[in-house]
Formats: sequence, C-alpha cells, structure tokens
Amino acid sequence: AAAGGGAAPEFKHDIKTVGVVGTGTMASGIVQVFAQAGYDIIYVGRSQDKLEGVLGYITKNLDRAIAKGKGTEGDKDALLGRLTGSTEREALGGVDIVVEAIAEDLDIKLELFRDLDKIVKPGAILATTTSSLPITKLGEATSRPQDVIGMHFFNPAPVMKLVEIITTPDTAADVDETVRALTANVAKVGVSAGDRAGFIVNLLLFPYLNDAVTLLESGVEMTTIDAAIKETAGFPMGPFELLDVVGNDVSLAIQKELHAEFGEPGFAPAATLVAKVEAGELGRKTGRGFHDYA
Ligand code: CAA
Repeated sequence: AAAGGGAAPEFKHDIKTVGVVGTGTMASGIVQVFAQAGYDIIYVGRSQDKLEGVLGYITKNLDRAIAKGKGTEGDKDALLGRLTGSTEREALGGVDIVVEAIAEDLDIKLELFRDLDKIVKPGAILATTTSSLPITKLGEATSRPQDVIGMHFFNPAPVMKLVEIITTPDTAADVDETVRALTANVAKVGVSAGDRAGFIVNLLLFPYLNDAVTLLESGVEMTTIDAAIKETAGFPMGPFELLDVVGNDVSLAIQKELHAEFGEPGFAPAATLVAKVEAGELGRKTGRGFHDYA
C-alpha cells in the first residue's frame, strides 16, 4: 500500500534474503516484520547475548499472539526457522537488501556503511532506518550511493503501519520503487519523504514531545498531561508514555538533530530530557524513564 495513491510499485530487484544490522528494539521489530512476511533473514549483532535478545523479543511477541489465538506454535517455529543470527558482518555478503538499525549516531553509521560497501554483493540495496541523520552522507560513504535509501520504521515496528521511504538526490529510481514494493509486501504503508532531519513524522512529533517536557518543567503534572492528550485528544499514548516507548536516548538524539538543522530555539532539547539520559533513565528498556516499569 502507498499513502497518497499512485500506481502500485513493482519489484525491480529480486529480494529473497534480508540482512538486518542491530539488535535493539527497532532492529528486533524489523527482523520480526520481514520474517512474518516470509523472507529469510540474516541479522547481525555484536555478541551472542545481543542476538539472543532479538530472539527473545520476537518469541515474546509471538507467544503473546498465540495466547490470543492469533497463530500457532507451528507458525512460530516456521518464522524462527527463517532467522540466522551472526556476530560477523561478513555474513551479509549475499543478502539482497540490508536494513540498518544500529545506534542513532552519524559516525557509527558512517563506519558501518563503509564496511557494508566492502562486504555486501554489488547491486544489493543498503537501507537505513535512521530517523534523523542525513542519508545522503551515508550514501557518500559508499562507492554506490545509488543503492542507498531510507526505510524508516516506527516503534513498535510489528504494530505501526507507516514506513517513511527517503530517497537522496543519488538514490536510483529502481531502488526507490523496489523499496516501495517491499514495504507494501511486508504489509506496511509507505510514504515518500525527502532527506532532511525528521523527514515528515518526527519533524512534527518531536517538537511536541519536547514541548511536553518543557510543560512538565513549568509545573504541570506528568499524569495530567498524559491523560489530557490520551483521553481527550485521542492519541493512543500520552507524550511521556510515548517518550518511554521510543527511549529517551533516541529522543534526545533526534531532538539534537532537529535543533542543529532548523535552529529553532524551541527545538533545543528540554533540560529534563537531557537529565533523564544522563541518569540512565531511558524508558521502558531500562525499567524507568518518565514513568516506572518495575
Ligand atoms: N511488539 C509487538 N507487538 C506489540 C507491541 C510490541 N512492542 N506492543 C503492542 N503490541 C501489539 C499487541 O500484541 C496487540 O496486538 P493485537 O491487536 O494483534 O492483539 C496490539 O499491538 C495492541 O496492543 P495492546 O492492546 O497491548 O495495547 P495498545 O492498544 O495500547 O497498543 C501501542 C499499544 C500499539 C504501542 C499503542 O499504544 C500505540 O500505538 N502507541 C503509540 C506508538 C507510536 O506513536 N509510535 C511511534 C513512535 S515515534 C517513532 O517510532 C519514530 C522514531 O524514529 C523514534
């Protein structure tokens, strides 16, 4: 499916095996999405423990679905059977597309793209799920910027329907079309966006989340703000609940990128968001963020 209509995109590249780099919340969710759509996955992480974390995330989600009568143990085994984990990036040599979901840090991603350029077979698509970093620069770090594209999933990836597809001035049209076809094939809705910080959704969402933290600092109760937005404005989560899902470290990184690119004074990260990250209170993943999850 594509937001905004238009002709259905077609596969211009053959996509059978998908590589995922990363083992965090987004990477785990993205592995699940592709595996659910029937693709073979090679996922790469820095340690065996981290690879097992990905399996743990997916197993928990599938067990919850089975308990609700959606799917069987047999479906789960088949899905898990499509996954191959590796601690070596070289395992990605033969994949048809790589989706990168490592730390939201330009230097770390540049190093990865230089490596992927050496490792992954020619003609494969190199995609990033960055939510705020310049994809054009990631392309320029490779000898094949025409194959580099953004495929920005939202958290939790198995649930959220939207994928922003971000082409750079260098991205080839056939790569764009293939990624739009792939997005539809994994039951997501693609929307095309240009390569600027925040793309569409985060450019609108994060100033709002940051303003919520500023409002908290001015003395309004967190639970009042969450309840007002959720119960009255019709959002599925209040801003502090959502910050805790996204992760305060990720939110701070995005907010800093938006501030650097647009220079709006109101985009400067709220002091309490910075303090939460410094205190290691990153959200659900650490058991405590704005709210407690003990
Ligand atoms: N992984 C997989 N599935 C999950 C899940 C997870 N982490 N959390 C919930 N689900 C599934 C549930 O199993 C359930 O599935 P079924 O309908 O098949 O039974 C479904 O989602 C609904 O879950 P619940 O009934 O438990 O709870 P809910 O109705 O409150 O939904 C939610 C949970 C989907 C997370 C919802 O609260 C929501 O949509 N929140 C807003 C999320 C959002 O805005 N995300 C975008 C963040 S911004 C971002 O991601 C951009 C970035 O670059 C950082």
